[in-house]
Amino acid sequence: MKKLLMGTNLKMYKTPAQTESYLCALQSLTEDLRNDVTLFVIPSYPALDRAVNTVRDKAILLGAQNMHPEEQGQFTGEVSPLMLKELGLDIVEIGHSERRHVFHETDAEENKKVLSALAHGFTALLCVGETAEQKAYGIADEVLSMQLKIGLNGVTKTQLSRLWVAYEPVWAIGVNGTPASQQYAKERHLHIKAVLEMLFPGNEVPVLYGGSVNPDNARDLIVQNGIDGLFTGRAAWEAENFNKLIRQVLPLYKGRA
Ligand code: PGA
Repeated sequence: MKKLLMGTNLKMYKTPAQTESYLCALQSLTEDLRNDVTLFVIPSYPALDRAVNTVRDKAILLGAQNMHPEEQGQFTGEVSPLMLKELGLDIVEIGHSERRHVFHETDAEENKKVLSALAHGFTALLCVGETAEQKAYGIADEVLSMQLKIGLNGVTKTQLSRLWVAYEPVWAIGVNGTPASQQYAKERHLHIKAVLEMLFPGNEVPVLYGGSVNPDNARDLIVQNGIDGLFTGRAAWEAENFNKLIRQVLPLYKGRA
């Protein structure tokens, strides 16, 4: 059985010093879980250098929240793969709902980022998810298919071991979000897995669920076979809470058929 994937995106929260204390605490609290859990944290850009110097022996994988696809250029305010590579990061998160809907990134842009992240040796974590309006029209699966087909266009077979997908319904994310029901999440995960199978037969790309994951719903989600891990925001931003959440779901994950 694959290790359970558990991660958090810190969004625009935590200064470099706060990120360091968070990682120190999380690292020591979860020390005994290394063989069972792949743990990852995605801090803000200014905290990345400090984060890399805080984590020992890749106990926690670290990622960036976004990346420009080009190596350098006249792109004020952007960060390139070479800059992130030099820091020693493992993951680049691409197409988070806030990138798509607050900063209006398109599927074609996410695709360029995915290809560049993979070409530069990172694990690319592509986030997909439908809006409330798309859900109401009954086109969630169509939207997910499109985001995956465009976002992953051109990814090669040899790169698949460094591809992760997160299903994060836009309406489920953040303080105003409502977590997806167990049944709804299960159906969308099965759809995502089917699209991935069509695109890359025989692949083992993990699909994580994200969007208002919390101690009340985490168990219901992780018992689903199509859910390979949880991508958590708010409920993971205190190291102790995140540690508790991981320990809550791990036995259920291990007990799955
Ligand atoms: P949330 O964030 O758990 O706070 O809803 C999830 C995310 O944006 O990845």
